[in-house]
Amino acid sequence: MCLMVTADHGPAVSGTHNTIVCARAGKDLVSSVVSGLLTIGDRFGGALDGAARQFSEAYDSNLHPMEFVNSMRKKGQLIMGIGHRVKSINNPDVRVKIIKEFVMANFPAKPLLEYALEVEKITTSKKPNLILNVDGVIATSFVDMLRNCGSFTSEEAQEYINIGAINSLFVLGRSIGFIGHYMDQKRLKQGLYRHPWDDISYVLPEQYN
Ligand code: ACO
Ligand code: LMR
Repeated sequence: MCLMVTADHGPAVSGTHNTIVCARAGKDLVSSVVSGLLTIGDRFGGALDGAARQFSEAYDSNLHPMEFVNSMRKKGQLIMGIGHRVKSINNPDVRVKIIKEFVMANFPAKPLLEYALEVEKITTSKKPNLILNVDGVIATSFVDMLRNCGSFTSEEAQEYINIGAINSLFVLGRSIGFIGHYMDQKRLKQGLYRHPWDDISYVLPEQYN
């Protein structure tokens, strides 16, 4: 399910855009996909490990969700797994809904996801786009699965979190989308990409003209 919901989010997102630009510059599949993968990080698809770590640390130290939000603000740190560029409470992310409903219906216990949803209530009351995002819902659900499915000791569960297993879900899923977009560009014989000027030109103060 995680691979399916993360596979693609259209051509406009950072990584896919990079892949498309590279494909249209005549580069090969691996180079084009790698250029997309290199954009994955805190702001784009690479917040899962951070979200798993931040939410579990807060939950395990019995921090009330409000204390967690306030403490992060005081430290000047963003909460990983919270916020989206275009999705919000007014434009809900169906991918998040699908994962959330599955976990609620099927997991034996989901304390971290429930905790994250309490955090979301607080953050969205400040700004509507500060939702629990795809990275956040997968990360917290995955920790709940590792901790409560009965197949892992708590040390094993922690080790998988520490070695980046949760980030790898987005990397693997989105690689499928990058490959699809690369194929599309080649199939449609798209030429060299050039970005429209009106999107990138800016007005300098008088003294620099
Ligand atoms: N935690 C706390 N505050 C936040 C968060 C957050 N995660 N995200 C944004 N804010 C605050 C900002 O501090 C800013 O506050 P201000 O107006 O008082 O200065 C305000 O919300 C707007 O911030 P922007 O950076 O302009 O928000 P934008 O919509 O451009 O950013 C983004 C979206 C990049 C996803 C951002 O929310 C973020 O970095 N989130 C944390 C990392 C994360 O989860 N990334 C994965 C996104 S989902 C995906 O890529 C599949
Ligand atoms: C996502 O899947 O949500 C990301 O690709 C970010 C975006 O801009 O949509």
